[in-house]
Amino acid sequence: MNDLSSSPTVATIAGLGDKGLDITLADGATHYFNYYWLRDNCPSSFSAMTRERSFDIFHLETAPRARTAEIDGDALVIDWQDEDHITRMPLSWLNAYAGGQRRPDPADLSRVAWFGDHYPAVPRFSQPDLVSDDATRAKWIEAMLVHGFTIVTDMPDSDAALTQTAELMGFVRPTFFGTYFDVKTHINPTNTAYTAGALELHTDTPAEEFAPGIQFLHCRINTVDGGESLYADGVAVANDFRKRDPEGFRLLSEVPIPFYCEHDTYDARSRQYVIELDQHGEVEGLTISQHMADIFDLDQKLLDDYYPAFCRFGRMLQEEKYMMRFLMKGGECMVFDNHRIVHGRAAYTASSGDRYLRGCYVDRSEMRSTYRALVSEGRFKA
Ligand SMILES: [Fe+2]
Repeated sequence: MNDLSSSPTVATIAGLGDKGLDITLADGATHYFNYYWLRDNCPSSFSAMTRERSFDIFHLETAPRARTAEIDGDALVIDWQDEDHITRMPLSWLNAYAGGQRRPDPADLSRVAWFGDHYPAVPRFSQPDLVSDDATRAKWIEAMLVHGFTIVTDMPDSDAALTQTAELMGFVRPTFFGTYFDVKTHINPTNTAYTAGALELHTDTPAEEFAPGIQFLHCRINTVDGGESLYADGVAVANDFRKRDPEGFRLLSEVPIPFYCEHDTYDARSRQYVIELDQHGEVEGLTISQHMADIFDLDQKLLDDYYPAFCRFGRMLQEEKYMMRFLMKGGECMVFDNHRIVHGRAAYTASSGDRYLRGCYVDRSEMRSTYRALVSEGRFKA
């Protein structure tokens, strides 16, 4: 996984320019590198102790320019014109970044879409195993990156167990509902989730500017009649929507719409894309919540097209083909990507038993960070 592992043995300087140099690398192609980039990323610019950049390019008095450049073994050696400094830049670094390539990212995994029959195949991990074994923890996070939905089993029946499990992935992240939330029926509900009624498929708190990433729902007890959990993979639905309705897909992925959440002490608002695309243009996930969609303050003519597309997609989300249904059991924790997996609940009979879920969130960036640290050597550990 180390992006510096390859070490080309063939390279020649093709020319020194005013702002950068051309070098022919082992791939046989000639690549241009900017002098600022070469100077800023000189290996001596980084502190092995802090692992941060210690060189400050803002303090260079003149634009960096090579006086001479040559290949010496596996490095490009630059003697800088207006500075008493020599850079030995590994050719492997040049090879890795030639042509503006992004730094390889072990957390940039291809997603696998799933459908309504997925429940038996949901990746499951025992909580004590996750606590005791980093390799299992890495597999769990990998499953989250690929499938967006996992179940952690054998959860201790305590508040602390949820915190401990979430912290295996990252820091617990509050929302305007607080750090943790309890889902049971409330006398004066401030949210549809706190009633016994059916809960439409949605992603949580879309009104947050950065809606929370990974949701943990720890089922402490579930003995009521009904209350089936409903989950669908937004990637599966949106990928099919892209084929079925390209113009609708374009609108939902290019036009942000407003969401809100308002009560006595908060008034959260944001604008989000219903279909979210990643750096490769692939569907990364969804932000959708019919009960938290604000008044669409968009051009009314645009709404002639947007609303029908929004409704077509919303209905498609409900299709049985995509709907995974099951009854949660006490001692399980559902862990899912709140930017990808829509979730909901069938109605239940509040007087028929107990139903208590406790939840929290961890940001997706924290999850990716933990995963990279578990599976790769980064730039400084080697
Ligand atoms: Fe929810």
